[in-house]
Amino acid sequence: MHFNVYACIVGCLALGSHAWLPGEHRQILSKDGVDFFNRSSLHQAGLLKKRYLPTSYGNDKNAIRGVNLGSLFIIENWLSNDIFAGWGCTDTSEFDCVSSLNNQTKANSDFQSHWNSWITQDDFTKMVSYGLNTVRIPVGYWFLESIVDSSEHFAQGGEQYLDQVVGWAKDAGLYVIIDLHGAPGAQVTDADTGQLNPSPGFYDDYNYNRSYTWLEWMTNKVHTNDAYTTVGMLEIVNEPERTWDTSTYPSAVANADSMRETYYPTAWSTIRNKESSLGVASDSQLSIMMMDKRWGSGDPDQYLTDLTLAAYDDHEYVKYAGVAETQDAYLSYSCNDSRSGNWPVFVGEWSLSVADDIQWTSGWDPTVEANKAFYKKWWAAQVMSYEKTAQGWVFWTWKTSGSLNDPRWDYQMAVTAGLIDADIDNAYTLGACS
Ligand SMILES: *[C@@H]1O[C@H](CO)[C@@H](O)[C@H](O)[C@H]1NC(C)=O
Ligand SMILES: *[C@@H]1O[C@H](CO)[C@@H](O)[C@H](O)[C@H]1NC(C)=O
Ligand SMILES: *[C@@H]1O[C@H](CO)[C@@H](O)[C@H](O)[C@H]1NC(C)=O
Ligand SMILES: *[C@@H]1O[C@H](CO)[C@@H](O)[C@H](O)[C@H]1NC(C)=O
Repeated sequence: MHFNVYACIVGCLALGSHAWLPGEHRQILSKDGVDFFNRSSLHQAGLLKKRYLPTSYGNDKNAIRGVNLGSLFIIENWLSNDIFAGWGCTDTSEFDCVSSLNNQTKANSDFQSHWNSWITQDDFTKMVSYGLNTVRIPVGYWFLESIVDSSEHFAQGGEQYLDQVVGWAKDAGLYVIIDLHGAPGAQVTDADTGQLNPSPGFYDDYNYNRSYTWLEWMTNKVHTNDAYTTVGMLEIVNEPERTWDTSTYPSAVANADSMRETYYPTAWSTIRNKESSLGVASDSQLSIMMMDKRWGSGDPDQYLTDLTLAAYDDHEYVKYAGVAETQDAYLSYSCNDSRSGNWPVFVGEWSLSVADDIQWTSGWDPTVEANKAFYKKWWAAQVMSYEKTAQGWVFWTWKTSGSLNDPRWDYQMAVTAGLIDADIDNAYTLGACS
């Protein structure tokens, strides 16, 4: 199917969104003949920058401006406590929920209906209308079912829903980051890995090996499945153990060392070797994303011999930064926040949430009218800093549900509540840091 879209740039793509069928080659031609769904012609036209190398500073429309799809493929109960409850689970991790359901058929059908409905094409249309250009999609290793052990309990059938969602993002013209958020064995003890493994098992050969298999599968998918042509980055593991956190993880130093020394270089070569075997041109290779050294697992570059198309993920939750509990201090912190650690770096997770002890007090409650101007300025300050000292940002998260009801974690709710401007460029006009 051909559309001739005259004088139309990427933002118009939403208008052309139709039901997308797996395997169908979509083509939208711009006035000058650029096929928006063709990775190499987008590259030639400079419209899809997979490299995101340092460009201009300041109001940089080439920066990543994105949202995470939290709770879609890895449900986080604190973000959406209606989902597990609706299925009769009292647990907080997917693994525990599927175990307690003790009925794989029911688990599969419950999760599949969630994967099919939590995010729809309308969400992507709305993202584009807000000026967002990117989605980061947290995914668990269990989406590749051949690497799941029989003792591991996860819902099945996810792959086709991932394909569907990635295809919708592409149809809307969004750049996509795929993030291995739930690694085999679990990289930390947190339900955001899909399981609450008391002692994270990721850091051994068996689980590294399963991760390589997953990365190879995903790399193949990105380069051979037409839905994935706007996927430009693959993050090889989200938020691993930090070397300073030995009270939670006694082996944190050894685990982080082993990850940098063994997992990172092998994950890297696994992706590149797969791309070579597929004959992928060098300008179409994936950017490979690792947590920035500021995360606390050491310098990811330490044992890498090739850094071409490396990208770094920096998570900046100011609520945990120990900032003095005044609105002025929060603003000043974010206005002066420099995120350069490794380069190029992206602030892949951040929010508008403030310290736990103050967040619902009258001076900080986001539903109190008098506080809204502060939140909008603080949003603007974060946007400007992350576009100036990093290559852009991805807000955590696009959607929440259940009783959380907190716009500081929910982009759409924050726009509706007036904490985030519906036009991101307005971040530069609010005088937040002047
Ligand atoms: C994509 O664009 C490149 C460069 O313009 C062109 O050589 C190639 O044939 C196009 N591929 C498709 C499937 O249209
Ligand atoms: C498992 O769940 C399915 C679908 O909800 C249901 O039809 C079936 O009876 C359940 N099996 C058992 C053993 O409870
Ligand atoms: C890794 O996987 C490969 C292929 O599946 C297998 O041959 C090898 O023994 C595995 N290594 C470890 C340490 O599990
Ligand atoms: C922080 O940012 C504010 C607003 O831009 C500015 O007035 C202040 O001087 C900065 N403070 C530091 C320590 O750089």
